[in-house]
Amino acid sequence: MNILRADNYDQLSKIAASKIIEKVRANPKATIGLATGSTPIGVYKLLIEDHKTNGTTYKQVSTVNLDEYIGISRDDPNSYHYFMREQLFNHIDIPLEQTYIPNGMAEDFLLECTRFESVIHELGGVDVQLLGIGQNGHIGFNEPGTSFKSRTHVVTLAESTRKANSRFFPSLDDVPTHAITMGIATIMDSKEIILLASGASKAKAIARLVHGEVDEDFPASALKLHKNVTIIADIAALQLV
Ligand code: GLP
Repeated sequence: MNILRADNYDQLSKIAASKIIEKVRANPKATIGLATGSTPIGVYKLLIEDHKTNGTTYKQVSTVNLDEYIGISRDDPNSYHYFMREQLFNHIDIPLEQTYIPNGMAEDFLLECTRFESVIHELGGVDVQLLGIGQNGHIGFNEPGTSFKSRTHVVTLAESTRKANSRFFPSLDDVPTHAITMGIATIMDSKEIILLASGASKAKAIARLVHGEVDEDFPASALKLHKNVTIIADIAALQLV
């Protein structure tokens, strides 16, 4: 794993955005894996800015997202569908039909998981996957204990994850209990992975990722088995490394 140290959140966002822009310019038909959460918002802002000023085009790009809550419609402001449209898709020239996010309102979730895996397969795999990290080491919504062999599946969210994400909801009771997420094996199939971490709340997780063992109790540690991973983190997130 390659570690890039950023002075602050803005610099972290710049480094990550320029890597994605470079990828899209080199391969206008690239498949980019996207993440939600607060951390990638700065990257998305810079992609929009670059699209508007430099004309980088996403007309032939496809995107796949890591995860979605179950039981929240795509037009609900707390859905990851809504988040992605607001934070990125509505502001660049990507056709929405080339953006793929698991459907949290599917009638048959087993079928939805298989469908999502086929989408990624038909796109030829993910060229570069952006990841955040949960304080408990989750990636996507793969909570501690998830098999490293897992493909897209339905998960029960850890109480700590629901609490951490409750800041976006009116109350903790409104945070969904389940989600659909790419599995760890699905994420590991990406040709390149960029993991972003910002702030002191991620310091323990980043220290464990860098110095700890590969262990299913700490999902992000699977990344140590991947050949092309870059961690971009700011000083606060790297303070225990
Ligand atoms: C959520 C998402 C993850 C994300 C994590 C960290 O649980 N499902 O994909 O990495 O939150 O979010 P943040 O960037 O807000 O700290």
